[in-house]
Formats: sequence, structure tokens, C-alpha cells
Amino acid sequence: MRLIIRPDHKTTSSYVAHYILDRIRTFNPTPENPFVLGLPTGSSPIGVYEILVQEYKAGRISFENVITFNMDEYINLPKSHPESYHSFMFRHFFSHVNVKPENVHILDGNAPDLDEECTKYEAKIKEVGGIELFFGGIGPDGHIAFNEPGSSLASRTRVKTLAMDTIRANSRFFGDDMSKVPQMALTVGIQTIMEAREVLIIATGASKSVALQKAIEGGVNHMWTLSCLQMHPYAAIVVDEDATLELQVKTVKYFKSIEKVGLGRGFEQKIPLRLRTWSLTSPPQTPDAKIMSPLLEDSLVELTPDNMSSRMDSWPKV
Ligand code: GLP
Repeated sequence: MRLIIRPDHKTTSSYVAHYILDRIRTFNPTPENPFVLGLPTGSSPIGVYEILVQEYKAGRISFENVITFNMDEYINLPKSHPESYHSFMFRHFFSHVNVKPENVHILDGNAPDLDEECTKYEAKIKEVGGIELFFGGIGPDGHIAFNEPGSSLASRTRVKTLAMDTIRANSRFFGDDMSKVPQMALTVGIQTIMEAREVLIIATGASKSVALQKAIEGGVNHMWTLSCLQMHPYAAIVVDEDATLELQVKTVKYFKSIEKVGLGRGFEQKIPLRLRTWSLTSPPQTPDAKIMSPLLEDSLVELTPDNMSSRMDSWPKV
């Protein structure tokens, strides 16, 4: 796991937004090979969405071939409610860019059969080849999506009862009235997030500092579900200085130094481009397709000494 530290919320948002933009551009999505992006709600990502919208309006990015999956949604809150995650996403992002409505996926917390809704969501993610980049936030109790403390680290998309801490934290969006906050939600599971090829978390402010300390300096633990990222091969948490308040000085120095040393040597940690063996219009046919990653088994080409150098040519230059 990487920890990227920036001075404040603005610079943290800018880092995250430009990381996402760079990933989409480098991926160069097409209708046959779309970029699949997981998305969060909450106050933390708003600055990121603002930059994504600005870049779109300036003609520097297109979301035409981007497929999105949101992390979570309240149960029994009408879609049209201003605090539903549907409303949030259209207000802050989807209404301002050229993402195709059919490419937007948000769990329906009013579906007649919620379990079926969750099963279908997982199936849809699989159908489009898995999530390439899951962008997320965290709650003050370290929850990721709505995977509250005690959630199974093997969980998938499901119904979840919200913890009192989350209801309290989210009451600020409901006129500080805890009784108005829905008590249940649909959420992707920890395993759903872990199967994304890459995970990028934004966490700013002192209210996230305890969760960060537990998730980074503590062990992998279902009471601080963010800690699952210790087991992810490509995960980064991007934070401001305030969010590091509970970390040890040596932890902060370590993560700052690895970024600095890497950049000083012209080396920026980047995920290799995914080399698909198939596209949406021609799904995998060959039973002997070789596997490079245990996470997205059907989507990667095996690297061999023979093909290595030519494949590396197509990796992003650092
Ligand atoms: C909610 C969402 C989470 C989000 C969290 C953080 O609980 N379910 O996905 O990460 O809020 O919210 P904020 O960014 O406002 O602190």
C-alpha cells in the first residue's frame, strides 16, 4: 500500500483527480475496451469531481468510454431525495460530463428484491471485465464504502445495517437529525473492492486520522475495514497532513521519503497497463489463456521472456 501525503484538502483532491485522469488517458478506452471506474460519494471526493468536470469542459478528457459503478446507496431513500447517492452523483459529476447513462451503475436501494439487486450488481461488474480503478473514501470509523466495523473481509455486495457512528457522521447531510438518516444501505463488499485492479482512497481531515492509524500501522482487521488494503497489490491512500495526526512520525517520514526518493530517481510507482486478451465484443474464447494476476484471472496476458520487452514498450513511461 502507498500513502501519498499532500498539505491540504485542495492539493489532495488535485493529486487524486489528476491520477484518475492520467489513468484513463493512458488506458485510452474504446467502446470495446472501456475503462471501468468505481466511484464514491461523501464530502471528500467533491473536490475531485470538480476537477474531473473542469478537465472535461476544457476538452482534455472524455468519459464516453468509461463505465462507472458506485460503491453504495441508502435503502428506502427515494432516488430523487437530495441526499440519495443517485442525486449526489448526478449533481456533482454525471450531469456535467459525457458519461453515457447506460454506463452508469448505482445500486437501487428501492429495488423490490435487494438481495437480487446485489447479485446482479456483482454479475454486471464481472460482465464488463472487473473494475480497473476503484476510487473511494472512508468514514471516521475506517469504513470503506458502507463496510462498517465487523464486516467480513470476504464480503460482497449486500445489505448492510449502518453503525451508529456512521449515522451520526452522516446526519450532517440530513439537517443534523439522526432520525432522518437511513439505517440501512446497499454496499459493495470488501472482496468486491479487493478484486478491483487498483484502489485509490482519499481521506482528509483530523476526523479520519484514527482510522488511518489503525489501517496503516495496525494489522489487517475487520474492525477497521480500510486495513484490507494492506493485502491489495495496487492500493494507494491519498491524505492531507491533518489526516496523518495519529500516525507515528517515522511512518509519515517513511512514506514521504519513498515518494521523494522515487521521484528523485525518475521513478514513479505506476501500475502496468492491463493487457487484455479480450474485449466486450469478443469475450475470452481460448481455454488456455495464460494468467498473470490471481485477481482478474481472465484479463491478463502472461509475461514470458520472449514477449517481455515488446510488452514493456507499451507500459507507461516513468
Ligand atoms: C459515507 C459513504 C462512504 C464515504 C463516507 C465518507 O459513509 N458511504 O463511502 O467514504 O461517507 O464521507 P465523507 O467523505 O463525507 O467524510
